[in-house]
Amino acid sequence: MKPRVKDIDRSEGLDIRAPTLSAEQHIPNLHLPWEEQGIKSRFLFKSLAAVMTASLRPKRGFIDHLGSIINPRTSNYDRIGALINSIDTVLPGTAKNLSNLLYRSGRLPVQVDNIKLYTYGTAAMVFLVETVQGRSVVKIYKKSLGNDLDGLMKVADFYKKKYELAKSWYDAPGLVPPTHFVIMPSPVLGSPAAACIQSYIEGEKKDFLNDFTDMELVNLIRQDDALRKQFICFAKQTIHMYCDNELCIDLLGEGNLILAKNDDLVTLNLIDYGIAPASLWKSRSAESYSKIDAYVSRLGTLLQKISGVRGNEILE
Ligand SMILES: Nc1ncnc2c1ncn2[C@@H]1O[C@H](COP(=O)(O)OP(=O)(O)O)[C@@H](O)[C@H]1O
Ligand SMILES: [Mg+2]
Repeated sequence: MKPRVKDIDRSEGLDIRAPTLSAEQHIPNLHLPWEEQGIKSRFLFKSLAAVMTASLRPKRGFIDHLGSIINPRTSNYDRIGALINSIDTVLPGTAKNLSNLLYRSGRLPVQVDNIKLYTYGTAAMVFLVETVQGRSVVKIYKKSLGNDLDGLMKVADFYKKKYELAKSWYDAPGLVPPTHFVIMPSPVLGSPAAACIQSYIEGEKKDFLNDFTDMELVNLIRQDDALRKQFICFAKQTIHMYCDNELCIDLLGEGNLILAKNDDLVTLNLIDYGIAPASLWKSRSAESYSKIDAYVSRLGTLLQKISGVRGNEILE
């Protein structure tokens, strides 16, 4: 059952802003046109990215890696990672050495004191950089590697549009960290890439939707006015966009919505905003769709449990 949002209590003074538009009006460029170009070089660079990030994978035994390699459901990216790590179990240091071999510091668009490979996700390789202004992350979009300038611009534009959309939906202070989109020489052999630079979220980070019980979240949110504003904005907008516009941000991606605790300050941060029509989640798998549905319903339940929003007005 989907949350019914039209009667949501707006007494928090956080109006829902996004107008009701079709998915195409929000994101005109849903199917990435550059997919058809430069297939060979894109495959090569994506494979190199997999080699470069292999050392970040959890340590497992040779047999486990072998299992991943032969499993037909393993993606190419993960298969390459497993292959490198299986070699690493026999020749320790291989994964790290290969990563270093591919790394080029290159010219970054910001003055940095230090840069290191930090982690990776489905779409991006993430580098942590230290600058005089503080720490930031540089996310190199794997899809962009091996593209010509036109392709790079399209990738950057695609992600930038999603960011701008997320920023306009979720305008509570600090909820969407400031992000800049650039074309730059990437650390992967210096190959040009579309990337974004985002402020680094400091402190202890946990996944908002997966690492807490309802009770823990409600207690945290009730104690903190700023966090409460962030959460109400996030929940109302997500429910509204999902129910009225059939659009949803990627709630499935581990660590996309994080709760960070830095000293005594607890903040909600949406660091990855893969906005897509609900139909896309549906077409991927019934399981993904029902998970998204369950997450959105949970946001409704959490809203109910926080004072100021009348429960029976949110859920049917
Ligand atoms: N601004 C940030 N601060 C701290 N960690 C981050 C930040 N952005 C990304 N990360 C880390 O990098 C991972 C992947 O980043 P994400 O933006 O989700 O990329 P992807 O689109 O590939 O999923 C996150 O799950 C998180 O662990
Ligand atoms: Mg992510």
